[in-house]
Amino acid sequence: MPSTTEQTIYLSDYKEFSHFIDGVELTFQLSPTKTRVKSKIHFRPNPKAPEQAFFLHGEHLKLISAHIDGVKISPTLTETGLTAEVPNGPFIFEAEVEISPETNTALEGLYMSNGMYCTQCEAEGFRKITYYPDRPDVMATFKVRVESALPVLLSNGNSGTSDEGFAEWHDPWPKPAYLFALVAGDLIAHTDSFTTKSGKDVALNIYVRPGDEDKCAFGMGALKRSMRWDEDVYGREYDLDIFNIVAVDDFNMGAMENKGLNIFNSSCVLASPETSTDANFERIEGIIAHEYFHNWTGNRITCRDWFQLCLKEGLTVFRDQQFTGDMRSHAVKRIDDVITLRARQFREDNGPLAHPVRPESFVEINNFYTATVYDKGAEVIGMLKRLVGDENYKRALDLYFGRHDGDAATIDDWLKVFEDTTGRDLTQFSKWYSQAGTPRLSVTDEFSDGTYILHFKQATPPTPGQPVKDPRVIPIAVGLLNPNGDEVRETCILEMTEAEQSFRFTGLSTKPIPSILRAFSAPVILERQSSTKERAFLLAHDTDPFNKWEAGRALAKETLVAMLTADAPVNSDFLDALAAVLRDENLDPAFQALALALPSQDDIAQTLFDVGVTPDPMAIYTALETLSQSIAQHLQDLLPRIYAANHVEGPFSSEAAPAGKRALQGAVLGLISRLDGGDQARAQYTAADNMTQQLQALACLLRIDRGQTELASFETQWAQDRLVMDKWFGLQSGLAAPQKAAAITETLTKHAAFDWKNPNRFRAALGGLTANTAGFHAADGAGYKLVADWLIKLDAANPQTTARMSTAFDSWRRYDAGRQGQMIEQLKRIQATPNLSRDTHEMVTRILGSDA
Ligand code: BES
Ligand code: ZN
Repeated sequence: MPSTTEQTIYLSDYKEFSHFIDGVELTFQLSPTKTRVKSKIHFRPNPKAPEQAFFLHGEHLKLISAHIDGVKISPTLTETGLTAEVPNGPFIFEAEVEISPETNTALEGLYMSNGMYCTQCEAEGFRKITYYPDRPDVMATFKVRVESALPVLLSNGNSGTSDEGFAEWHDPWPKPAYLFALVAGDLIAHTDSFTTKSGKDVALNIYVRPGDEDKCAFGMGALKRSMRWDEDVYGREYDLDIFNIVAVDDFNMGAMENKGLNIFNSSCVLASPETSTDANFERIEGIIAHEYFHNWTGNRITCRDWFQLCLKEGLTVFRDQQFTGDMRSHAVKRIDDVITLRARQFREDNGPLAHPVRPESFVEINNFYTATVYDKGAEVIGMLKRLVGDENYKRALDLYFGRHDGDAATIDDWLKVFEDTTGRDLTQFSKWYSQAGTPRLSVTDEFSDGTYILHFKQATPPTPGQPVKDPRVIPIAVGLLNPNGDEVRETCILEMTEAEQSFRFTGLSTKPIPSILRAFSAPVILERQSSTKERAFLLAHDTDPFNKWEAGRALAKETLVAMLTADAPVNSDFLDALAAVLRDENLDPAFQALALALPSQDDIAQTLFDVGVTPDPMAIYTALETLSQSIAQHLQDLLPRIYAANHVEGPFSSEAAPAGKRALQGAVLGLISRLDGGDQARAQYTAADNMTQQLQALACLLRIDRGQTELASFETQWAQDRLVMDKWFGLQSGLAAPQKAAAITETLTKHAAFDWKNPNRFRAALGGLTANTAGFHAADGAGYKLVADWLIKLDAANPQTTARMSTAFDSWRRYDAGRQGQMIEQLKRIQATPNLSRDTHEMVTRILGSDA
């Protein structure tokens, strides 16, 4: 059983807090093990709140003293907080508590990382700092005084008085406690400024540890692009005199949107050509945008309760996706996002952890920062935009910002804004928020007398707690092509609302080839019987870049499934189609790289399971190897030419065009390495002046098991760079041959640089193994056991990261009885660990389900 009592929280139990807060004053006297936090909170009764005792959250706090209106009180203390008798009218509550940031390895609340003080309060970390109503619907203005001898002392809002040993901050915008932040350390600022549309000057700083100051320029540029974009596209200006970003090495997540003081995992902000890949640059730009965009979608308008998390996260992911599309390529971004959605969210939706975008209950809220809330939450907004149109979307957003600025809002508020803007009834649409599971959309067609009809059926499989599903509103983007390749009907949106529905197109001279679900217009699994010929035709001719890519992906999957289930040879039509894509000089190299990439092992396993076949991880691995080898051989004359043609001259630029060329070169290098024993990769490794190409080459060599020399030289070269060494760890566990993966990972965990309490390092080594599908699922169970051992160890220090990583086991139902038994055994071993955290206990219990 977990250490703290497990209590399920229900959306339907929501009730307002007993009081409003008119202001909070906090003083921090920082010390590694004895930090004093003094609070002064101005409470005023909330006349609308139901009758309740006065309760403040508080966990692991040592209460020194408490006062109400200056009179000392002795409140009742429990594991989770404090109750007290309070006056009927307004009153001032004061407390002094002691906390120990240095021993806080959970990285939640106030903690230390490399001598620096840092906070993480979302979702419920503020209660580990002081007694407070730690819930997002209680908003207040904060004045903060930080006392410490450290040179840089930061908190939210605008800066006030400061001198040797202290700094004061004032945040004029009322905010919930989860947006509170404090940082103190020996840090260096990379500074810049931004002038908003209305002429306000904003000071911008990125604070980093000494030595990292040369890795801030890109992040700063990304911040300024984000600020401009939010003004141009959403009409949203920044609202303080200063915007600070701090990089910290020990961080559970990617980054956090604290008001005016964003805190970033250093891996998500520090960038340089020598140490960061193109993928890193794109991720950094996207995450800086994401956290910045939260200033309006999250901070100015926050969530009433944590069940509404997708109100801020789904919308902000949607916005950062739009931003990246505008900065780079919409086509490539859409394909990347769908790959991620399928890999993470479809997996979640089809397993024991399936839950609605707006969940109805939770034990530990940290376990609900999921692909469903984030990525499906963003998809739902994309569908809404498609259904109401771009103009109405813009009007609805303006209404949302106008109506709810300063509010702690709900998904119902959000939908109401769209209903009021368009007059549409969104009752059925709202099921996308309340019902879990990925709809299966099957389609057949017929043609006669110039009329073409598409017949659709939708069905959503049962998910935990939701056996029966209602039909959804599904926007299906469709275009029609003539057999000669011309588009005869441009993209239109078919609005499906019934379980079965047909749509007709008239006035056609020949039977068209349909391009269905263009741009992936809804997060569904499209089931359509189609010929290799038709898929190859769409890959060659579709005007919709997503469906063009999708046709190639479907061909690859069909080939692999046939190889695995019918012992079929590699489909040569697929190989010819790939060659045609590579030869087409009108295509974006980034797109060609995506077309060349094969589906992941996990994707194939999921696909097989969906059609009733038990996946064999080793067979999938082998089939992918065979297919890659066939592709390499089939394209061998073409590959050196493509590789040379995509060489990028001149100084490194992280922009989309050169990054796309490098991506294609990397994909081609992977194939060439299968033919030349690694000569070309070794040459690229030696010549590389940037991490993208160095890492590509090393990965190619490791995949053919010829990278030992380069692995060692890479370690020597980068031993002092934490973020690059994470790559070194991750590559080895991630690319190890299946039979060796667990042993190699175990060796990595004995490496002097394996700092298991650092989440980035832990994720690199162990997460590399769980992402190495055939390695993790090796038949002897060594992968399962090693991961479980480490999860048990990490749980005592860092429950949040442990719980997230336990999802590696959520696919157990897919596999054969032997693997199922081994995975269940490890899950039960984790579950039975004494003092297991509530976080991990909830996860493994849900993963096991009731029938394990
Ligand atoms: N608010 C979250 C950070 C967070 C997540 C805090 C979970 C506490 C618990 C932040 O805005 C976020 O969503 N970060 C993402 C990256 C983003 C680009 C999707 C992250 O950290 O992975
Ligand atoms: Zn977010």
